[in-house]
Amino acid sequence: MERKEIVLTEDQREVQLHYIELCKSYVDELKKKLGRDVTCCVNTFGCQMNSRDSEKLLGILCQMGYIPVETEDADFVIYNTCTVRENANLRVYGRLGQLSGIKKKNPHMMIALCGCMMQEKHVVEKIRKSYKFVDIVFGTFNIYKLAELMYHRINSDGQVIDIWDELKGVVEELPTVRKFSFKSGVNIMYGCNNFCSYCIVPYVRGREKSRMPEEIICEIKGLVKDGVKEVMLLGQNVNSYGTGLPIDITFAQLLQRIEEIEGLERIRFMTPHPKDLSDELIDVMSKSEKICNHIHLPLQSGSSRILKIMNRKYTKEHYLELVDRIRAKMPDVSLTTDIIVGFPGETDEDFEDTLDVVRKAKYDSAYTFIYSKRTGTPAAAMENQVPDDVTKVRFNKLLATIDEVSHSICARYEGTRAKVLVECVNDHDSSLVTGRMTNNLLVHFPGDASMIGSVVDVELTECKGFYYLGKDIDA
Ligand code: 5AD
Ligand code: SF4
Repeated sequence: MERKEIVLTEDQREVQLHYIELCKSYVDELKKKLGRDVTCCVNTFGCQMNSRDSEKLLGILCQMGYIPVETEDADFVIYNTCTVRENANLRVYGRLGQLSGIKKKNPHMMIALCGCMMQEKHVVEKIRKSYKFVDIVFGTFNIYKLAELMYHRINSDGQVIDIWDELKGVVEELPTVRKFSFKSGVNIMYGCNNFCSYCIVPYVRGREKSRMPEEIICEIKGLVKDGVKEVMLLGQNVNSYGTGLPIDITFAQLLQRIEEIEGLERIRFMTPHPKDLSDELIDVMSKSEKICNHIHLPLQSGSSRILKIMNRKYTKEHYLELVDRIRAKMPDVSLTTDIIVGFPGETDEDFEDTLDVVRKAKYDSAYTFIYSKRTGTPAAAMENQVPDDVTKVRFNKLLATIDEVSHSICARYEGTRAKVLVECVNDHDSSLVTGRMTNNLLVHFPGDASMIGSVVDVELTECKGFYYLGKDIDA
């Protein structure tokens, strides 16, 4: 069998560290010239994969001597882009217009674009022709090369563009700056082989490739040593973890190995595909102390007819039967989902099936999306696109149905106690802290910044729709 695991490219690590040093000299000179610190801003669009990539980009920039800031009037600005729906693209073009204004005032400013949108040829052509002030363009497979590309840009006159069409290797252990000290995403696999007919991800993130379990476990052990309590295992379809590796391992077995890591308190994962969520996984989850009591199980549509055209490879009945199997072993589990409204050819009857599943599956919450036509996907070429006004009406009806179902589901813990991992001081009221239960619901309760990163026993006094108010039992 062909070996498909991702190769550890140690030489590349050395090469990149060398480029980081070279860029550091440039940054030092810039600091002297400007007589102040130099700043960087990494702006992330899209999903948790991108968020994790952005932590790696920020790590490289900080190592060069940039100081991270939130605002885009920085000396180095990166947009880590998403292309899953069209409005994500439009937002990037809109904001690029503003960046060009800032760059006119600060000619030394560097602008880089990377991520999923850059894997589309027509996008790169447009950036090349119409957005000449952009300095560096790279994709999803070579983010580790930021320093090398920056070095080339410093030593050339024009745009530096470097887009690959597949993952050639993962460069481990480059500097990373994590957004949260106590939790972290961990890539367990890259890419997707499913080709759902509406989805652009397989075209921009390439074919599915799993990381070797030892590499994943080593990374998590390092994170735990560094204070991390919770990991989110990331993959487009985590259930097929292990396919193509030279050893036999399933996702459930990987979870069991991760569970053994001492000091790690919580394990989450994202995203499983309903077509191959195994009984083995349900069994492992139901017995686990650390795997969180939450499954995000994207439905996309409740109509078996639409699911077939979407190439999802399950029916409404399969999905509901899976929900029953999950609830039989984990009666208390939180289920959340993704739903697309207005897929080509969706009729009122199809949409009613979606509402029916929402009522029966009893989701804690759902992410809802209006279908967005993505160039190059099979669905984009389908003739019977649903008119916007019809989609809007359905979308609002879906939101109302989710609200109806989810409020009573979320409220089921009122008056009980729960363990809450504190994430931050509350944005609106600094006498409160905000944390998450294992089922991912948010809880706000009296506390202070010293509690961030600790797991606290909280009484859930009142449910406010999608979140709780509570009080620290030991306070
Ligand atoms: N239009 C609308 N939503 C989409 N998603 C993926 N592709 C599209 C599209 N073309 C949604 C799916 C997926 C989530 C990450 O984004 O629901 O689960
Ligand atoms: Fe897209 Fe389907 Fe792959 Fe998810 S499983 S990334 S929806 S193609």
